[in-house]
Amino acid sequence: MGILILCRPGFEPEAAAEIADWAARHELAGYPQATRGEGWVRFHFFDPAPDHALPGPRDLIFARQRVRVIADLPDLPREDRLAPMLAALREAGITRLGDLIVEHPDSDAARPLAGLARSFGNALRPALRREGWLAELSDPRLPCLHVCFLSGTHVLLGLSEPRGVRLWPQGIARLRVPKDAPSRSAAKLEEALETLMSAEERARWLQPGMTAADLGAAPGGWSFILARRHVRVIAIDNGPIQPALLDTGLVEHLRADGFTWQPPRPLDWMVCDMVEQPRRVAARMADWFVHGWCRHAIFNLKLPMKKRWAEVQANLGDFHARCEAADIAVQTRARQLYHDREEITVLAWTGR
Ligand SMILES: C[S@@+](CC[C@H](N)C(=O)[O-])C[C@H]1O[C@@H](n2cnc3c(N)ncnc32)[C@H](O)[C@@H]1O
Repeated sequence: MGILILCRPGFEPEAAAEIADWAARHELAGYPQATRGEGWVRFHFFDPAPDHALPGPRDLIFARQRVRVIADLPDLPREDRLAPMLAALREAGITRLGDLIVEHPDSDAARPLAGLARSFGNALRPALRREGWLAELSDPRLPCLHVCFLSGTHVLLGLSEPRGVRLWPQGIARLRVPKDAPSRSAAKLEEALETLMSAEERARWLQPGMTAADLGAAPGGWSFILARRHVRVIAIDNGPIQPALLDTGLVEHLRADGFTWQPPRPLDWMVCDMVEQPRRVAARMADWFVHGWCRHAIFNLKLPMKKRWAEVQANLGDFHARCEAADIAVQTRARQLYHDREEITVLAWTGR
């Protein structure tokens, strides 16, 4: 039945190339099916795939959601979608579910399905409980059932395993950023902190009183998010920083070039949102780890070019190669966040 991936509309080629690479690395033969602009990719296996054949929640950059497909219902009758769906779940041998997510791709064509998804979820949830498949309270240890409406009559049913990561409908983290944030980019860093790290990592890695540099900080959205967590920030940018942010006393503004500025002493964090060639950014980010200027970093790689998957692989490969050459062990997790447009966001950290 394969794997269903939801992605940012327009990034289907990247999501398809990435899942094909993942499958090849795991010696799973198959092919991706995608149409540009539809916001989803399906990977079909040539042979029946083992049950565990599903990328982990943080294994793919361009996947907002990834689900093991258990049933394809291309012709659901509009007057009763529920009965065929329950029959398909019975046939698939469903016994225990930890949660239910009813969703649809994020494309222009599929967005009007939001109302249907909501009302259908309200009908399906009690039906799953009556069958004894779904408990009253969600249980993150059990698989989550995904009902994905590709159209009003075409539904894919799938399962995902949370594996310690919070699951969101459409894979879109719904986060509130205060209205007084200096820029909309603030939501991007908030989403990165929430989705690229576990709660336990956040508690350990991001503590009040820590220090950070924000390269390309103006007007201050990312510094604002760090200062809210009581981190002291040096904001590097030739542009102005919101005065209210400077008034907190937690943010110091330096007019300098983010590609040459060095911190006077090692910092806990470096974040970088400079709009520049991704190759140049990745190389500079590696400098920070090679010189021991930070232990954790979150940076954006802008992708205005055509071959974006190849570019991402080259840049992350270059970043790791530079760190390895200096014998610095650095790990990364990358994702195209909901708030990312033509870019991805990378978390990097060293155990040092
Ligand atoms: C997308 S904006 C950053 C928005 C910011 N993260 C926020 O949340 O408000 C990019 C910033 O990078 C800055 N920038 C670009 N090249 C830079 C460089 N070489 N050194 C420092 N800042 C740079 C620009 O001045 C611009 O303010």
